[in-house]
Amino acid sequence: MANQKLWGGRFEAALEDWVEEFGASISFDYRLAPYDLKGSLAHVQMLGAQGILAPDEAEKIKTGLEELLAQYEAGQLEFDVNHEDIHMNLEALLTQKIGPVAGKLHTARSRNDQVATDMHLYLKEELGQILEKIKRLRQVLLAVAEENVETIMPGYTHLQHAQPISFAHHLLAYYQMFKRDFERMSFNLKHTDLSPLGAAALAGTTFPIDRELSAELMGFADLYHNSLDAVSDRDFILEFLANSSMLIMHLSRLCEELINWCSHEYGFVSLSDTFSTGSSIMPQKKNPDMAELIRGKTGRVYGHLFSLLTVMKSLPLAYNKDLQEDKEGMFDTVTTIKTSLDIMAGMLASMTVQKERMLAASQKDFSNATELADYLAKKGLPFRAAHELVGSLVLECSKQGIYLQDVSLERYQELSDLIGPDIYQALESATAVEKRNSLGGTGFEQISLELERAKRELQEDEK
Ligand code: ARG
Repeated sequence: MANQKLWGGRFEAALEDWVEEFGASISFDYRLAPYDLKGSLAHVQMLGAQGILAPDEAEKIKTGLEELLAQYEAGQLEFDVNHEDIHMNLEALLTQKIGPVAGKLHTARSRNDQVATDMHLYLKEELGQILEKIKRLRQVLLAVAEENVETIMPGYTHLQHAQPISFAHHLLAYYQMFKRDFERMSFNLKHTDLSPLGAAALAGTTFPIDRELSAELMGFADLYHNSLDAVSDRDFILEFLANSSMLIMHLSRLCEELINWCSHEYGFVSLSDTFSTGSSIMPQKKNPDMAELIRGKTGRVYGHLFSLLTVMKSLPLAYNKDLQEDKEGMFDTVTTIKTSLDIMAGMLASMTVQKERMLAASQKDFSNATELADYLAKKGLPFRAAHELVGSLVLECSKQGIYLQDVSLERYQELSDLIGPDIYQALESATAVEKRNSLGGTGFEQISLELERAKRELQEDEK
């Protein structure tokens, strides 16, 4: 039994099955199969080019690996827990296919640099897809914003009506968050686009390998310059988990708003049927389950970040088996982030914006109180005095159950001779929004400028 292991030579007794299962990673690292095969292909080509393997040996191994890759793609490869992990499973399959020459593939290589290489190749590809999905979400946000420049809604602080804003402005705030997420993930890609292959177990190798060649064959932009770092660095995964935590935190904030907005009390948006679910008991229900689920999944992404940070804490150089724990959280985060981005883009693109409800909500309230104070301040009353005057008028109105726009001109002029009939226009929520034309403010002109800027940025990011 012991001798059937690839590392069996030094052993007299076999692991018991349940111990073996505890140590095995094949139940989850099977996902690395195509990356492992691509890494091996580059490695064997390099070994051949350097004369470390004879041309016919390298060729035989290469053909075997290519066949395995085709079989994998056709869903025909079966893995065995007795071979512990994806690396040894594939080597065993290669041996079955081409015989003992398969054993030469592992020359000048260790599973330590091999697994690190697989992780880099995997995450590099996934980051590319995630960047595309963030871009798509940014595009959808821009498209919905463009339709809603003049859609007026209440802006909130403390979840209380604060000042009216444009709905486009609200959406563009999220655009900014996802733009930063895009930049963080792009930077992450730089730390992922590095080849650890050739670091071997920890110290490099005595064989005359060409690390630059294998890195190039795998399509890596650069390589690790310290073999200990190459096999023990998981910063690129931690960065990904941290970036993902921030990204899903942003998604969860938007989800929370959508959930509020489609409630009976707000009624600001209706989510399409394709992103809503019903209730098994209450026939009237249309629930924003998908938004709730993204909000809920935020927990597991934060969890994966903390889990890997804890795995890495105090871990001595170089490889330790603890590092096998880097995988499941990363795989799960990739799936969670990719689907959450797709769901969010789909929900936004298909929702109906209830423009009248939003506008109405910004009219039957005191969110124009600042307008009155600014009106007085512009006519020379110190802002503090204006604030005081408007505050007591709001109190007076609340007692009477009316709003500032319902106060008679007579009463206004009693309060201050600075107030003229133009006050009613100034109190309109649309006026309040339009006039907030300071840089980055909600004024329509500013929003148009921001939309243009965002479109240019997206074009840049296409390059
Ligand atoms: N399955 C292992 C992992 O995921 C591969 C590397 C094993 N290396 C070792 N020296 N035991 O980390």
